[in-house]
Amino acid sequence: MKKASKKAMSPRTQAIHGEFQSSSWEFSHHLIPPMTASTTFRLESLSRGAEGFSTFGAQTESGKPIWIYDRLEEPTTKMLEDQLAILEKGECAITFGSGMGAIASTFMSLLKTGERIVAHKTLYGCTYSLITNWLPRLGVQNSLIDVNDSASLAKLLADESTRVVYFETVSNPILEIADLEKIVGLVKAANKKRKKDQQIYTVVDNTFATPWALRPLEWGIDFVIQSLTKNISGFGTEMGGAVIAPKSFESMLRVARKDFGAIIHPYSAWHILVYGISTQAIRFEQQQTTALKIAQFLEKHPKVQSVTYPGLKSHPQYKLAKKYLKSPESQFAPGTMISFQLKGDMKKCQKFVDDIAKNSYAITLAVSLGLTKTLIEVPGFMTHSAIPNEKRGESGIDPRAIRLSIGLESAQDIIDDLAEALKKV
Ligand SMILES: Cc1ncc(COP(=O)(O)O)c(C=O)c1O
Repeated sequence: MKKASKKAMSPRTQAIHGEFQSSSWEFSHHLIPPMTASTTFRLESLSRGAEGFSTFGAQTESGKPIWIYDRLEEPTTKMLEDQLAILEKGECAITFGSGMGAIASTFMSLLKTGERIVAHKTLYGCTYSLITNWLPRLGVQNSLIDVNDSASLAKLLADESTRVVYFETVSNPILEIADLEKIVGLVKAANKKRKKDQQIYTVVDNTFATPWALRPLEWGIDFVIQSLTKNISGFGTEMGGAVIAPKSFESMLRVARKDFGAIIHPYSAWHILVYGISTQAIRFEQQQTTALKIAQFLEKHPKVQSVTYPGLKSHPQYKLAKKYLKSPESQFAPGTMISFQLKGDMKKCQKFVDDIAKNSYAITLAVSLGLTKTLIEVPGFMTHSAIPNEKRGESGIDPRAIRLSIGLESAQDIIDDLAEALKKV
């Protein structure tokens, strides 16, 4: 029987082999982990049932988890979680039915009535809606600021109602880079003056960067969210979300998932584990190589007003991008997302996007990102339309901004399609 090597493997290899020996299943006998499909599990005794309800899929003293019911935890999901924790270098991961399921359950676990979330002003549209429409109904207030602005952040950290600082490591859609070290430093300083039960937690959405470009826990962040629907899953067939958390919060987050019902289907967990994670590095790197070529093409084009891509020297935070966006092998990893604007008004933008939608072969007008197919969208009218018109300016999203998520097509084909549509505006 093959034995797991004790040698610390590179993330690239870990993404293929995972835990190798899992208490959730016997990897020694299965080359590929089996997909489970049992909503409920046979129990040998009442005491085993009682123990299962209190341990929730975590390891018991016997070294094996007790499975009870899918919504609590089940083997395929647990294997995916173990793998995600390895990739983000976290203590544990809890998966959800979607990225929003992970974000909402984390907020509900960390915030109570009368408390405050301080969030970056530019956020994915549904996260913005969750923070500004839903949390206030539960008595949770919000302050939306530029989290890289130390003075504004420090002021809010001194407010005793503040309990969570939330932002996207690379913001959707305008690709700002959060200065993790500076933010964590300020939060740690504020926490020194607070009691243990009043600590402020940093929660980040690392969906754009993925663990392949940034591991926020290495910079002292407490909780990392991933929409698994995007690059980690990668093929556009599964939805899922995850939070990588300190072990001390595992039980609370699992109870939140059980009670809110935001469970991932084992079928999706299996696909993300078997196809998504094991190919993420290679997909991400290829898409990133193409993204740089597309960004350079757009930047030189006379009809393009501006291009934002962390791999371009013209990115306003290029220094921060170089500091934080790195593969586990320390290569610069500016990612697979581009934002750009054409010269001219909204009509021009619309004409261009409609032309791509109608005539492009390699580029598809669709939301989502990180897939094998290149996708184009206009965030102000699509993914970020939950942000009210009067708040658009504050959130930094120009209605004419166009977002590209680069896929695995040939770079030249994507460039040719863009060039063709640009000719017509
Ligand atoms: C940055 C970011 N976070 C979270 C989400 C939500 O993920 P999901 O669609 O899996 O709920 C999205 C979706 O587009 C996103 O772009």
